[in-house]
Amino acid sequence: MKPPLIRPRRLRATPAFRRLASETRLHPAELILPMFVREGTDQPVPIASMPGVVQHTLDSARRAVADAAEAGIGGVMLFGVPAQRDAIGSGATDENGILNVATRALVEEVGDALVVQTDLCLDEFTDHGHCGVLAADGHVDNDATLERYRDMALAQAAAGSQLLGLSGMMDGQTAAVREVLDDNGFQDTAVLAYSAKYASAYYGPFREAVDSALTGDRRAYQLNPGNRREGLREALLDIDEGADIVMVKPAGSYLDVLSDVAAASDIPVWAYQVSGEYAMIEAAAANGWIDRRRTIEESVLGIRRAGADAVLTYWAVELADWLGGAQR
Ligand code: PBG
Repeated sequence: MKPPLIRPRRLRATPAFRRLASETRLHPAELILPMFVREGTDQPVPIASMPGVVQHTLDSARRAVADAAEAGIGGVMLFGVPAQRDAIGSGATDENGILNVATRALVEEVGDALVVQTDLCLDEFTDHGHCGVLAADGHVDNDATLERYRDMALAQAAAGSQLLGLSGMMDGQTAAVREVLDDNGFQDTAVLAYSAKYASAYYGPFREAVDSALTGDRRAYQLNPGNRREGLREALLDIDEGADIVMVKPAGSYLDVLSDVAAASDIPVWAYQVSGEYAMIEAAAANGWIDRRRTIEESVLGIRRAGADAVLTYWAVELADWLGGAQR
């Protein structure tokens, strides 16, 4: 047998070669931290299914966002946990609602050090837990929900949110929100479309994180997990409707969709490593079954390699610290 002529191992032989030959690397600037802010609590409340993640008070959220800026991450995505809910999610459009109050506080805290972003969806604010308002027969009324999203967009933009994260999966939501922003002097407020958001079991721990009241599921509006082509279609529709950034969510089980969207998109493509992806790695690591740090790094690297320009991850600040923080 002749010895091999081609030896790819040469570039793997030393740490210096491996570093030089690395195709993908992580950087703090492309990490975004999702944060929960709870109304009417004076102590942060731990989320049992997401060890290390809490529902913040306004004060603890201020400290956390300052730490996030210090770590050099790109942004935070805010979710509100209101004290009261109703059928139309009134708290979402109230300027004194928790999400809008938290947005003003955190923008004041960090200024332009990172991008303060807000979840634009009704599920945290409705007593039935759906992402929109319900018609008389109980189904989520797409066009009536768009009217609520338009009001929510104005409330969030007025509170200082710099990027609105449209996560409700209503048809036409990107165009509806873009139009109302432009008509009201918010031309510079950017829109992140959660274009390919799948009806996923991986959101399980999030429902605890926001104390969601949902019974039933979201399959009548979120994407069918079997559909790859449809994920791309949703992203292309949102690009046409004026999105500034499109997203694929969850990340780890949808890397094919992410890769397709990244290949077709001429705007940035992000991915959301969701609560269940976080919980699984934390649980396995707590049992000593996997190396926690290496698994976290590999999971986020895989999402970047598949084509995400930035990643929402509950490990954003810890990962940024491992990467050397803002100095890198
Ligand atoms: C909807 C929303 C959800 C998540 C982010 N935005 C929940 C859902 O659609 O059921 C899930 C995020 C996560 O699981 O980490 N407002």
